[in-house]
Amino acid sequence: MKTILIVGGSKGIGKALVNTLKVDHNVIVMSRTEIASKANTKQYLLDVLKDELPEIDVLNGLVYCPGSINLKPFKRLTSEDFIEDFNINVLGAIRVLKKYEKSLSTQNGSVLLFSTVATQMGMPFHASVAVSKAGVEGLVKSLAAEYATKIRFNAIAPTVTNTPLAARLLRNEKQQEAMKDRHPLKQYLEPTEVASLAAYLLSDKAKSISGQIFPIDAGMVTLKI
Ligand SMILES: NC(=O)c1ccc[n+]([C@@H]2O[C@H](COP(=O)([O-])OP(=O)(O)OC[C@H]3O[C@@H](n4cnc5c(N)ncnc54)[C@H](OP(=O)(O)O)[C@@H]3O)[C@@H](O)[C@H]2O)c1
Repeated sequence: MKTILIVGGSKGIGKALVNTLKVDHNVIVMSRTEIASKANTKQYLLDVLKDELPEIDVLNGLVYCPGSINLKPFKRLTSEDFIEDFNINVLGAIRVLKKYEKSLSTQNGSVLLFSTVATQMGMPFHASVAVSKAGVEGLVKSLAAEYATKIRFNAIAPTVTNTPLAARLLRNEKQQEAMKDRHPLKQYLEPTEVASLAAYLLSDKAKSISGQIFPIDAGMVTLKI
């Protein structure tokens, strides 16, 4: 069975991916809160920005889920906001990748990071997250080239997804309906949809796909109706 590390498998998209993969993979979860189900899964309780990362010799896949939705007018965004967003979205991923690139290289592993629709479409109040996620996209493309025969790197760029991270945007029925209405397909995403694409990109079915950013946007970026 393949071994996949999911940093941030306790909630949201990462949790949905754990549930998808644990059927026929060994799944390793890293997060700060404990996960309920342990079948085929091993968990390390840690803060990926600060704590020592454990040795893992063999990895077929790595998914980095921690991220942020820190939406503020530019005037109110501080340097600390930009640094905090960059730390969790970019430097955390770099820290994990530096630790495990050898374990992935020996297995022709697959890495998956997360961007956002806000890198492709200018949206008010998204300056800080857009800066960080543009960094994620640059990282994916650079490392995909550098490790071309050894590790595949891709990113998914979702629109609003029904997870704890987006809870403030989907607080009540009125907000939920308004959010659906902003999308040409009249829906936002459920984490299982994103997890399905993630599982595909991690699998050998996607063995020729690397250096790509995949939007799942319910038409937000690409369609005008
Ligand atoms: N949800 C959306 O609408 C949306 C839209 C566009 C892009 N995205 C991107 O998609 C990715 C996944 O989003 P999501 O909505 O599933 O996020 P989420 O609900 O916040 O889940 C994030 C996961 O990362 C873990 N995590 C966060 N900080 C950590 C840390 N310092 N150390 C260890 N684990 C940490 C969390 O676990 P613990 O709290 O237990 O540590 C949790 O399991 C993110 O990169 C996000 O930016 C999401």
